[in-house]
Amino acid sequence: MQVAIVLLIIALLILLWQGVTEQAMRVLKERAGSPYDERGPRIAKGATVTIIVLIVAFMASPRKWFEPPPPMVATYTADSLWAGMDTALIDHIGGEREELVRYGRELIRNTAFYLGPQGIIAKQTNGMNCQNCHLDAGTRPWGNNYSAVWSTYPKFRERSGATETVVKRINDCFERSLNGTAIDSTSREMQALLAYMQWLGTGVDTGKKPKGSGLAELKFMDLAADTVHGEAIYTAKCASCHKEDGAGVRASNGLTYQYPPLWGENSYNIGAGLFRLSRFAGYVKNNMPQGVTWESPQLTDEEAWDVAAYVNSRQRPDRDLSADWPNIAGKPVDHPFGPYADSIPEIQHKFGPFGPIAEAKAKAKKK
Ligand code: HEC
Ligand code: HEC
Repeated sequence: MQVAIVLLIIALLILLWQGVTEQAMRVLKERAGSPYDERGPRIAKGATVTIIVLIVAFMASPRKWFEPPPPMVATYTADSLWAGMDTALIDHIGGEREELVRYGRELIRNTAFYLGPQGIIAKQTNGMNCQNCHLDAGTRPWGNNYSAVWSTYPKFRERSGATETVVKRINDCFERSLNGTAIDSTSREMQALLAYMQWLGTGVDTGKKPKGSGLAELKFMDLAADTVHGEAIYTAKCASCHKEDGAGVRASNGLTYQYPPLWGENSYNIGAGLFRLSRFAGYVKNNMPQGVTWESPQLTDEEAWDVAAYVNSRQRPDRDLSADWPNIAGKPVDHPFGPYADSIPEIQHKFGPFGPIAEAKAKAKKK
């Protein structure tokens, strides 16, 4: 840019100089009585004006036409937290892929607008947005982000007893967290979600999980989580937004939520990740009440576990889970429905304490 300004000044000075010398030549020639040929100076001036126009056009045109795109790398190193991709970089992807990544991000942020109960593309989700749980479009450290999706899938998951692709994993959330139906793997929507997740995973090596990916694992408590204490926390710290009845508050456009529901018919179903106490507690600890981050949490671990127990003991949509966990020994310690490989009662799998269950699992594995 500075070079262009200097060139512009030089060109303007040349134009001025051409004007002055032309005037002087004309006067000299007229005085000498010889004819003055105007064509030469006119061509010279025309050339200078053309150059000036070109320089101004260059200065007024978008920079990205001339500058090489900035490198597409995530701002994270082995010991720093993954801080997401700089979304300003989407402008530099170019072509069809840029459109897809942009649309994928949009679908995460405004899922209900496209696919909710009044969705413009299809009507197949409960009105929540992916972003309600995958904060900042899936980029917030410990905010259930997508940093490790592209690097770790396809992977074997005990829940399905099979190797899951990213498509399958995304549809898990459609069917469970959004209590809806799977979307077609060839649809533009799925292609966009994949493109966005692949782009978010730029710079994360295959098999690696950056620090801050997904949800934090809170330490197990020695006691069972306490729904009575959880209710008190809920009333004091959550109900102002999510409401006493857990139904949340709809956005003014009626399409989605200003404060998403935590239970009831419009919430995630019993097969969703958040229905496991550890997932809920890990999410809430670092991200709720709205405004806190992992750097400034407000709830103690105990409060997070207890409020998780209260919320997940309320009514919510059902789901047939009979095909889940084909190998019962693979169930996580806090999967709330039997049968189990251990003899610990179902209620303890739901509310803890989880330490003894983890020990039983570890022992069984060793055998
Ligand atoms: C009600 C909350 C909720 C909503 C809404 C939700 N998810 Fe999820 N999602 C979760 C939880 C919880 C996990 C599991 C996190 C864990 O186990 O650490 C998860 C996991 C995922 C994963 C796997 C992440 C990984 O690293 O393994 C993907 C991909 C995903 N969700 C995509 C989506 C998409 C796309 C949408 C919207 C269509 C969506 N989710 C909506 C709660 C939600
Ligand atoms: C100031 C308002 C506010 C308060 C207080 C608040 N939340 Fe939220 N909560 C939100 C908003 C807004 C979202 C969606 C975030 C987004 O889309 O970026 C959300 C999302 C959630 C989600 C994931 C989405 C869902 O509906 O399942 C859970 C779980 C949750 N909050 C639990 C809690 C708990 C537990 C508390 C109390 C400890 C709490 N929140 C306090 C505003 C609030």
